[in-house]
Amino acid sequence: MYGLIHRAIRDCVKASHGEAVWSEIAQRAAVDESVFVSMEGYPDEVTIGLLVVASEELEEDLSVLLHEFGRYWVLHTARLEYGPLFEFAGTDLLSFLSNLNAMHEQVAISFSNLQQPFFALEEKQDGCLLLHYESVRDGLAPFVIGLIDGLSEHFETPVEVTLVEEKSKGSDHDIFELRIVA
Ligand code: HEM
Repeated sequence: MYGLIHRAIRDCVKASHGEAVWSEIAQRAAVDESVFVSMEGYPDEVTIGLLVVASEELEEDLSVLLHEFGRYWVLHTARLEYGPLFEFAGTDLLSFLSNLNAMHEQVAISFSNLQQPFFALEEKQDGCLLLHYESVRDGLAPFVIGLIDGLSEHFETPVEVTLVEEKSKGSDHDIFELRIVA
């Protein structure tokens, strides 16, 4: 993935656990400054390697770490470092979720090798929403739940998220059910 993702992982770990813990993780994952160039793309193994070592070092399940990182990405990285893009995507939770593809298409103008995720929002008869998530990658569902939690906090719209179809269990792609809590 692009270096900006690695930078955000680093910032997220440093913010919660401090500089010394991060140095230990970077050393064990055998990464140096060269993988933190925002506009540079790196093999996904580098990204996953960082996350796996961080989860071991912090004694936190990888899914918990991915969830934390999703929230951090929205509430810190996206909001503060990519403000104009973030604002472009919408001023409320539902319009924002409907615009995720368009937003990543804007990102792809600058990041030409972006392997962007694809989302589709479907409204059910009972008022719940289904968010379809398709990716060339596996294992990122907890990251997406963290991202949605971050967006829910940002837009002050409480929402319960349940993973109802799982790619890891043979479904074509992940589907999340979103219930807005009145
Ligand atoms: C302005 C804010 C954002 C920017 C600049 C941005 C940019 C990026 C970039 C550069 C990647 C890495 C893709 C690659 O290296 O091939 C990525 C991945 C991803 N983004 Fe965004 N993004 C933003 C906000 C969001 C939000 C709010 C969501 C909420 C659902 C989201 C969902 C994802 C997911 C799930 C991935 C993982 C890639 C995959 O599933 O294969 N992004 N994004």
